Amino acid sequence: MSNLLERLRGVVGAAHLLVDGDLGPWEVDWRKRWRGRALAVARPGSTVEVAQVVRLCAEHGTAIVPQGGNTGLVGGSVPDDSGRQLVLSLARLDRVRGLDAANMTLTLEAGCVLQRAQQAAADAGLLLALSLGAEGSCTIGGNLATNAGGTQVLRYGNAREQCLGLEVVTAAGDVWDGLTGLRKDNTGYDLRDLMIGSEGTLGIITAATMKLQPRPVAVLTALATLPTLDAAVSLLSLARSMLGPGLTGFEVMNAFSLDLVRKRFPALRQPLPPAAWTVLLEQSDTEGESHGAAALESLLTAALERGLIDDTAIASSIEQANAMWHLRESITLAQAEEGPNIKHDISLPVSAIRDFVAATDAALQRALPGIRLVNFGHLGDGNLHYNVQCPEGDDAVEFLRHEADVNAIVYDAVGARNGSISAEHGIGRLKLDEMSTRKSPVALAMMRAIKAALDPAGVLNPGRVLPPPAIR
Ligand code: FAD
Ligand code: MLT
Ligand code: ZN
Repeated sequence: MSNLLERLRGVVGAAHLLVDGDLGPWEVDWRKRWRGRALAVARPGSTVEVAQVVRLCAEHGTAIVPQGGNTGLVGGSVPDDSGRQLVLSLARLDRVRGLDAANMTLTLEAGCVLQRAQQAAADAGLLLALSLGAEGSCTIGGNLATNAGGTQVLRYGNAREQCLGLEVVTAAGDVWDGLTGLRKDNTGYDLRDLMIGSEGTLGIITAATMKLQPRPVAVLTALATLPTLDAAVSLLSLARSMLGPGLTGFEVMNAFSLDLVRKRFPALRQPLPPAAWTVLLEQSDTEGESHGAAALESLLTAALERGLIDDTAIASSIEQANAMWHLRESITLAQAEEGPNIKHDISLPVSAIRDFVAATDAALQRALPGIRLVNFGHLGDGNLHYNVQCPEGDDAVEFLRHEADVNAIVYDAVGARNGSISAEHGIGRLKLDEMSTRKSPVALAMMRAIKAALDPAGVLNPGRVLPPPAIR
């Protein structure tokens, strides 16, 4: 092993092969649910160095755990506790390689932090329409490896829909240059789409070409309180019909989500009083597609008249709009402060959401009286973060012993309505059991065949995404 470390040091330089000192930040995930022990952390500075690192690891049979911003929520980006897995950090591959304004594309390296990528597009008067609460730390490579969603999917799609080309280092240490900026390219199997969402198990993304959009000339943000989730679903339909493509955000938050934010971050002002449900709406106007403030006001007036909403607040400045988004995006952190919870990132047909929530809330309360539900998410995409927190006053860590029972209730209800057990966060290590029992055997067999073809020695992020066949 010391021979491998010596050779890795020769590739990335002594300063970028971390073996001594505190490797903690690379060894523990954002939720602090997985703590591992790495053989070392390698921080290559170029695609060529990534390829050399992979080749050396393949030669030594050493597993590689790719890591971007380490904001993933399913345990895929940190090593296991064997002390034998190499963390390959993409953080130093952070260059913007170029922006083609006429083609409306941005080519950048995998370790580029999303917020910087957004800024590069904004500097050219364009929009990179990928936005999530972790955007100050997560990286483009991580976003593509997880096929991240976020808050603008209902208008612009997931990370997958926004990516035109990739550069990838294969498990053998070869470089696949698929960095095209083409909107049309039907030349065989779609390797780009195979890599996107593969969570580091099929290849290491070193660069990407992302689609850009016209920058909105105006963005309007509003909050509305609602008596029921049914009303929120009806408001979504109304918003779609009245705002059309101008609707760029539709987030829902139950009362307990915002209660937690109030409890944990009392300094954050909440413009509306507590309510059963609160929706955050965003409308964006591009030139030639202008709705103006009047459209949002008409929508909210119509919703008030129909009894869908009780109260509303429209942001009158960028600061107020940012504060509304900040409230929404503080829920994840507020939950973390409250202690560990049982997380579910699920998607359902929007038409099935009300019934799912009513039935599952009741089933969970019957099974575990007093549990608290942090239910929020991207209603416009049918994606809920349906998280189960222990009863007030109980020990949150101890409560995790109910995880399997809670998961069975939630995922059975999701399955019964043709939903998905992972909408946007991926599988990682968190959902391996569910993959083995809930994904069709045919789908699993095809996935295993792909993995065996592209990574026959199982060097890339083993033990993530695909459960070992023995579990079935
Ligand atoms: P990491 O956490 O470093 O890695 C994630 C996975 O991708 C791992 O399996 C890792 O091995 C692999 N990987 C990373 N980089 C590469 C690469 N270059 N090549 C190959 N594999 C790689 N997610 C959403 O979808 N929507 C949200 O709205 C959202 N909001 C969030 C809010 C908060 C506060 C937090 C903490 C997380 C949120 N997430 C959200 C989850 C997370 O931010 C995303 O999954 C993000 O895409 C991960 O990017 P990362 O760079 O941090 O990747
Ligand atoms: C979000 O939408 O805020 C995220 O996906 C994070 C979470 O699920 O907590
Ligand atoms: Zn989310």
